[in-house]
Amino acid sequence: MATILITGSSAGIGAAAAIRLTEEGHQVFITGRSPQKLAAVHRSLLAVAAAGTEVPEPIAADLASLHSVRSLAETILQRAGRLDVLVNNAGVQPPRRRFSEDGFELGFAVNHLAHFLLTALLADRLRANDGRVVTTSSDEHAAGQLDLDDLNMDTRWSSALSYRRSKLANVLFTTELRNRLGLPASSFHPGSISTDLNRDAPFVRLIKPFERLMMKKPEQGADTLVWLATAPEGAAPTADYYVDRRPAETGPAARDPQTAARLWDISARLTG
Ligand SMILES: NC(=O)c1ccc[n+]([C@@H]2O[C@H](COP(=O)([O-])OP(=O)(O)OC[C@H]3O[C@@H](n4cnc5c(N)ncnc54)[C@H](OP(=O)(O)O)[C@@H]3O)[C@@H](O)[C@H]2O)c1
Repeated sequence: MATILITGSSAGIGAAAAIRLTEEGHQVFITGRSPQKLAAVHRSLLAVAAAGTEVPEPIAADLASLHSVRSLAETILQRAGRLDVLVNNAGVQPPRRRFSEDGFELGFAVNHLAHFLLTALLADRLRANDGRVVTTSSDEHAAGQLDLDDLNMDTRWSSALSYRRSKLANVLFTTELRNRLGLPASSFHPGSISTDLNRDAPFVRLIKPFERLMMKKPEQGADTLVWLATAPEGAAPTADYYVDRRPAETGPAARDPQTAARLWDISARLTG
């Protein structure tokens, strides 16, 4: 059974994945911002865990702070003797142009930079156990544009542009992670899932009841994540990007090796 860390597991797709993986007997570390939401998911994990399955205490961390990312990694290195899978799942679609504690555009900071740093800090522990990295991207990456000379989007910002750019960065990061660190890594699109992702968007309260009817449930969104995290060694997924458990084509911008390499170098510099 594997030891797994899932970011963004206090709600939505990450929480559903944590419950399913715990049910299957894996040891799952959950993390998110809200201690209350983490406590509720933790109770669900305790309820489904079979006798003998360890359910670790949740770890609260704000990925909009690189200091907090470092503390999260340190806590994991202290508390988890081994780490088999890191799932970079936390995500935000900022409704307004905002910046992280370190001064980076919020979507880029949380969805990409924090996960870049977390992966780097945990890479040795993962490698020691032939571990792997799974990153939750989105089919919206295909419409993403990444101007590496304007990371804070001073020339043009919108909520959609910010989100798509960060999801493009997730796919580029996955390719480069494999090339540079030799870690098995894949990203995926979970489908259109009814979660709290757009909780702060205008009019969301009005459409929420319809969204619940029209969109898939978090458990369905977690399916490919769980599959990527637990496919047995030898059958470990090897493509950059998956949809519904199948390798899928990425958008053209996600296939540019020079951008992937530059994004990596810049991210390494920005995160120190
Ligand atoms: N829902 C969809 O249709 C869809 C489609 C494609 C891709 N995705 C991707 O799926 C992933 C999960 O999203 P979701 O739909 O499950 O949304 P969600 O219900 O809003 O869950 C997002 C998770 O990310 C965490 N998070 C957000 N900002 C954070 C921060 N600054 N620090 C730490 N944790 C933070 C949240 O923690 P707190 O709640 O504790 O703040 C929560 O656990 C995201 O990467 C998203 O881009 C979703």
